[in-house]
Order: sequence, then structure tokens, then C-alpha cells
Amino acid sequence: MKAEARARANIALVKYWGKADDGPLNIPAVGSISITLDALWSDTEVQFDGSLAADELTLNGQNRPEQLDRVRRCLDLLRARAGVDHAARVTSRNNFPTGAGLASSASGYAALTTAAARALNLTLSRRELSVVARQGSGSAARSIFGGFVEMRAGTRPDGSDSYAEPLMAAGKWPLELVVAVTAREEKQVSSRAGMTRSAATSPYFPAWVAGSPPDLRQAREAIAKKDFESLADVAERNCLGMHGAALAARPPLLYWNAATIACLEAVRRLRRSAVPVFFTIDAGPQLKAVCAPGSSATVREALADVPGVVDVLESDLGPGAEAG
Ligand code: DP6
Repeated sequence: MKAEARARANIALVKYWGKADDGPLNIPAVGSISITLDALWSDTEVQFDGSLAADELTLNGQNRPEQLDRVRRCLDLLRARAGVDHAARVTSRNNFPTGAGLASSASGYAALTTAAARALNLTLSRRELSVVARQGSGSAARSIFGGFVEMRAGTRPDGSDSYAEPLMAAGKWPLELVVAVTAREEKQVSSRAGMTRSAATSPYFPAWVAGSPPDLRQAREAIAKKDFESLADVAERNCLGMHGAALAARPPLLYWNAATIACLEAVRRLRRSAVPVFFTIDAGPQLKAVCAPGSSATVREALADVPGVVDVLESDLGPGAEAG
């Protein structure tokens, strides 16, 4: 009753920020569209063991009891389906910085769900896996799939129609990603806490939710037509809208540092000089630059020169979660 899985991080181009319910179902208030990355991944091993008293989690070699509630949520859903009640030993490792706005919970919970389902010998569709992964972390539902992915907010109170689905294969439009790392430490306010605070206190939150469906439509169309300009337009606007809602929360949420802004300006300068690139930023200070095929080398060089950038990572688009 043991299996391994690898799942990749993903970056949202139209963001998930806010929940429709604050309970364990973790249903998002808005849909989202993302790209799955090739180079940033979590490798997770799950072993169900009748001699264990309780579930255990080791992340990058350290015990992480504070994450156990969410891990247990995914494990319980799968244990119930399999009719198994053994506790599990979960060992996970990321090949990139954890908790610094690089979507480690997305790859982590997608890998956990995929490995646990395999260890229990369950045959679930990717859609079903995404429904389980969502309950560990909303963005993890998207990392079940590769390439361009859409997460449906859904309307059913039981969350059964809040799942991710593939929009387009990675190979059909091989965009490239450059991440400018501007801080290495774990962020102070998690996505979960930040979106909950935004929903509860930001006067801009209702406007953010209302703006999401048209942004999803534009992004879906831009991807289908491979229209880089249109995707750049909607992704930058949607990202700044999410941060606008967060900035207006009480107390305010400012995820950026000076280097984040300097990178944003560098990306705008590049685009003015005809380099096809746009930025997006999640709940952390790293800037993610999405580049048209063939332009990441220029973008990497420019971002590496920005004062305050401590590292630059690159990735192609990648596949969905895979049991090993
Ligand atoms: C800013 O998926 O980490 O990265 O569901 O509470 O675990 P939980 O939140 P999480 O939030 C991701 C927020 C984001 C935008 C996005 O990935 O869509």
C-alpha cells in the first residue's frame, strides 16, 4: 500500500482568490486558468500502514504538523472510497523554494492525491482526482493536468462541479516561463489567509469576483487562438486586480517588495521594445514572466540584471501529475 507520484507547479494567468465556502470543501469563489510548469515539481510518497497511530507528514525532511489537517482531508476522502482506515506516512520533497509564492501547495497536494489514490489501488479519473486535490489546496486541482488548464468554480454546494479540466496541450503553444526570485524566505501571509482576509474585509472584493468571468472568457479565447497580446492584456489586468483587492483588505496585504516592482517595470520595458512577455505575481514577491516561444533567454538576461533579484528560474510548460 505504497506509491509515489510527481506533480508540477502551476501558475495562474487568471487567478483564484477567494472561496465560496470556508468549510473543508474548499470551493473557489472564482474560476481560474493556469499553465502547468515542467521544471518545478513535488515528489511525494504515500504509504498506508496499519501499525501507524496517526497520519505523518515530512516535507523537505522536516515534520510539518500544521499541514496535517489538509493532508488528512485528501487522505480521508480516498480512504473512504477504498474502504481502508490505515494511517499514512507521507514524505514529500520540492525541487524549488517552499511557501514563497511558487505554488508549492499546488504541486504538493496534486502529488499527494495521485500517490495516495495509487497506493489504495483506486482507479479515479483525473477530474475526480482534481476534486480531491482541491480540498487540500484549490490551485492543486489544476496541477493534476498538464499544459493550459481551467478550474471551474462550479455551482453545486457539494463541490462536485468544482474541478479542473485541460484547455490545450503544452506542445500546442510552448510558452516559456522565467521566475525572478526576489526573496527566499517563506511568505508571512499564506494565500489561504490572504484570500480569506480579502473576502472578509476588502471593499474591492465583490468587484474582483464580478470581473472574473469576462477575464476567464478572454483568456480562454486568447489561448485557443494563441493570441499572445490578448493573453498578456488579460493576465496582467487580472493579476493587478487580485492584488488591488488584497491591497484594500484590512489590515492591507502587500505581497511585493521593491524588486518585484522593478521586475514589473523591466517586463513592461521589454514589451515596449517588442519582446513578447508579460508578468504575473501570486501571493508572494516573486515575479513570473510568461514569454512567447523563443523569447525567454532575452527576458532571463534582463530580469537577472534587476537589483534585488536573487535567483532566476526557467521552465517550459509541462505534463500533469504522474504516479511513479
Ligand atoms: C495567488 O491554492 O494556495 O496562487 O486553496 O487556500 O490552498 P488554498 O489556496 P491556494 O491559492 C492560490 C492563490 C494564487 C492564485 C492561483 O494560483 O490561482
